[in-house]
Amino acid sequence: MSTHARILGVGAYRPIRSVPNSEIVDRIDSSDDWIKTRSGITSRRIAGPDETVISMSVEAANDALEHAGIGADQIDAVVVATVSHLMQTPAAAAMISHQLGATPAAAFDVSAACAGFCYGIALASDMVKGESAGHVLVIGVEKLSDITNPVDRGTAFIFADGAGAAVVGPSEEPGISPVVWGADGEQYDLIRQTVAWDDVFATPDKEWPALQMQGSAVFRWASFAMAKVAQQALAAAELSVDDLDAFIPHQANMRITDAMARTLKLPERVVIARDIAEQGNTSAASVPLAMHRLIDEGQVKPGDKALLIAFGAGLAYAAQVVTIP
Ligand code: UT7
Repeated sequence: MSTHARILGVGAYRPIRSVPNSEIVDRIDSSDDWIKTRSGITSRRIAGPDETVISMSVEAANDALEHAGIGADQIDAVVVATVSHLMQTPAAAAMISHQLGATPAAAFDVSAACAGFCYGIALASDMVKGESAGHVLVIGVEKLSDITNPVDRGTAFIFADGAGAAVVGPSEEPGISPVVWGADGEQYDLIRQTVAWDDVFATPDKEWPALQMQGSAVFRWASFAMAKVAQQALAAAELSVDDLDAFIPHQANMRITDAMARTLKLPERVVIARDIAEQGNTSAASVPLAMHRLIDEGQVKPGDKALLIAFGAGLAYAAQVVTIP
């Protein structure tokens, strides 16, 4: 355990097609005003047929590698957080690693839904510090449009597609704080696939499985319980809100972000990621996409401290403080 770990570079891929609320309101009997007021979303990115979980990941990963200034051949492990890689096996990570030219890096997927990217950063940090890997590529990717029912009022306006990536490597200073994570399996039913695959095969006339969400119950859980987890992550990092430069929560709903910011009593100068407005909720991809936008727009600078928190199906959650590359 001789080194510290930090994020060395962040990359993103946003699907080309932007779908405004006006395009979906009729089929879910909704309105632009309702969607904006309840979620903060004005438009979302939806992938086309050629924008796959694999291709979006490769684009985001190459961007992250370029920002980190290292080659794919220096990557020792590829960790992919996703729930929308539709092939049970092999892992998306192995296919992505091959396309990047990172072979024979260790490659595996993490199924922790919206918390997956923060789980991946925690694993990568420990792998680098434990010297089982020199550099780890962590990708959060989703093509949720493949597993969302387009006429479901509770999910069709919220979920979207995209990929974000980060390269984690050795550092002289600590750049990733101890993770605070967990899962409340008792509430696993709140966000889930409608039917399990064995049920689909047993009754072939069943519909394609989709995500279903008990939105208001998840909303209450996220708004109250997650602010406490964020406070625990700050304590684990031995920091207070006054030491923070940015707050980058999972882009679940703008109202959840606002509720957490209020409870945390974030100082006015702390930048809050609000990527959801034009990107939608991309589950595992949302935190790296939001971080990438803040870096890209110059809203954060290298060395800034950002509090990450992500939460969702499981109900799994994870939070940590990272140094912006
Ligand atoms: O990423 C993983 C974690 N996910 C989250 O954190 C998401 C958490 N949940 C949410 O973001 C919110 O629950 C939603 C944005 C999904 C929904 O907002 P809400 O304020 O919780 O709405 P609701 O389900 O409580 O419904 C309120 C009203 C109902 O009408 P009444 O009973 O008050 O007359 C619904 O029938 O809004 C109605 N409604 C809609 N109206 C227009 C529900 N869905 C829609 C819709 N358009 N799409």
